[in-house]
Amino acid sequence: MDLLSNFRSMLGAANVLTGNDAAPYLTDWRGVYQGAAQCVVRPATTEQVAGIVALCANSEIPIVPQGGNTGLVGGATPDASGKAVVVSTSRLSRVRGFDPENNTVTVQAGCVLQTLQEYCRDRDRLFPLSLAAEGSCTIGGNLASNAGGSQVLRYGTIRELTLGLEVVTADGEIWNGLGGLRKDNTGYDLKSLFVGSEGTLGIITAATLKLFPLPRMTQTALVATNGMASCVQLLIRLQTQIGSSLTAFEVMANECLKLVTSQFPQQHLPFDGSSVDASWFALLELSGSQDREGLGECLETMLGDALEAGEICDANIATSVEQERAFWNLRESITLAQAKGGKGIKHDIALPISKIPEFVEEMGRNLSTTFPGLSVMPFGHLGDGNLHYNVGPSPRFAEDALQRSHDRIYVMVHDAVHALGGSISAEHGIGQLKRGELKRYKTAHELAMMRSIKAAFDPMNILNPGKVI
Ligand code: FAD
Ligand code: MLT
Ligand code: ZN
Repeated sequence: MDLLSNFRSMLGAANVLTGNDAAPYLTDWRGVYQGAAQCVVRPATTEQVAGIVALCANSEIPIVPQGGNTGLVGGATPDASGKAVVVSTSRLSRVRGFDPENNTVTVQAGCVLQTLQEYCRDRDRLFPLSLAAEGSCTIGGNLASNAGGSQVLRYGTIRELTLGLEVVTADGEIWNGLGGLRKDNTGYDLKSLFVGSEGTLGIITAATLKLFPLPRMTQTALVATNGMASCVQLLIRLQTQIGSSLTAFEVMANECLKLVTSQFPQQHLPFDGSSVDASWFALLELSGSQDREGLGECLETMLGDALEAGEICDANIATSVEQERAFWNLRESITLAQAKGGKGIKHDIALPISKIPEFVEEMGRNLSTTFPGLSVMPFGHLGDGNLHYNVGPSPRFAEDALQRSHDRIYVMVHDAVHALGGSISAEHGIGQLKRGELKRYKTAHELAMMRSIKAAFDPMNILNPGKVI
């Protein structure tokens, strides 16, 4: 039997997609990459995933795992050769078990993040990973890219939320490492290696994840400031005074919010007068089990002090759940607004927080001198030192000119980040987009260790070849 017939008899013909049915799986969310594949398969069990991998391993056929296909670095898109098989986890979407005493949940890899958040909320628990793509990204994709998002400041990235994994390895074997222990020092930490491996070391089929008490209250504020240095001062003030009750601290340059309100006219900035022209806005969230009024008073006092100290120029504390949602909508619409504004260049960088004001000021100046008219629209998770230092086309700098300058702009931004001790990929991963950049900034020793790990886990190089290294 040929490969496709084998897949059809294993999964049913409806779960082996070709032609037009396969097309949506062959391009990425941004529309930057276009690949081809023999077929897209949709297994519903771990055993089926193992069967698919064993068949592919037999003939050395490349496999590209895919979850919600919301990744921003082309990691889930096959190359153009048409040799690969895309393994979609869309039917591996079940929650396998909820354990309220150990505060864990075990879930299949294709479960959509928002579905898992809601499942846990209905059981009075918090699964804290939160990102703007949560309505379509999957737990497997989150794990494979070590997703971050807006709650990392308090709860960490998904690596820190992971207690166990089930993985199909390159030889078609199933590794059951689903134990929910919080302490386990029995040798190398295999699960941490699979998290963030972007489908190059194994296909994650299930995970056991940490849960937290559901916060009883939240307080959310949108703050106008005169610059990034003020945002950093405010962050330090809040962290010093309320510690872990500060669960999110996001920043947005004015240009980002202008773009959101022009692309989505139903959204508005809750400020008037000169505050509308503030250079940077911070969106902050306090949450916990304290009483809402107490924490609200505390937030008012801290913001009042910051206003008096000249750190901020205006602040608006949400007075209803609807208003909280509206503030978050402004923040979470930035990526979509930027995508609607034309293909830009994404820099998902991490820096020591203390260096961010200097970086923003110098890079803004250098870019506008070298590339006059370029539109710089940075935002991000300041609490984690992670900026999305994105640049986009503008009336003076058209999309095709921007794409022609892509590599020069990449080098300029990434060299500066590297010189300040930062990272060229804070949370999106490497995929195909940053493979060249990884080689530029990792040492030969680091690259050699990574290649040895890849060769040990996937000696035939069939798992997501052409990605990461
Ligand atoms: P996919 O895009 O399908 O795949 C991503 C990578 O994981 C690929 O390399 C793929 O091969 C691999 N993979 C997928 N499933 C598996 C599996 N089961 N086993 C092994 N490998 C697998 N990311 C953040 O970290 N923080 C953010 O705040 C954030 N915001 C975003 C906002 C928007 C609007 C968008 C579009 C994206 C955002 N992202 C963010 C990026 C993206 O959503 C995340 O990387 C997400 O974790 C990807 O999940 P996915 O299921 O869509 O994975
Ligand atoms: C976000 O935080 O919204 C995404 O990670 C950012 C992006 O689009 O660069
Ligand atoms: Zn982000």
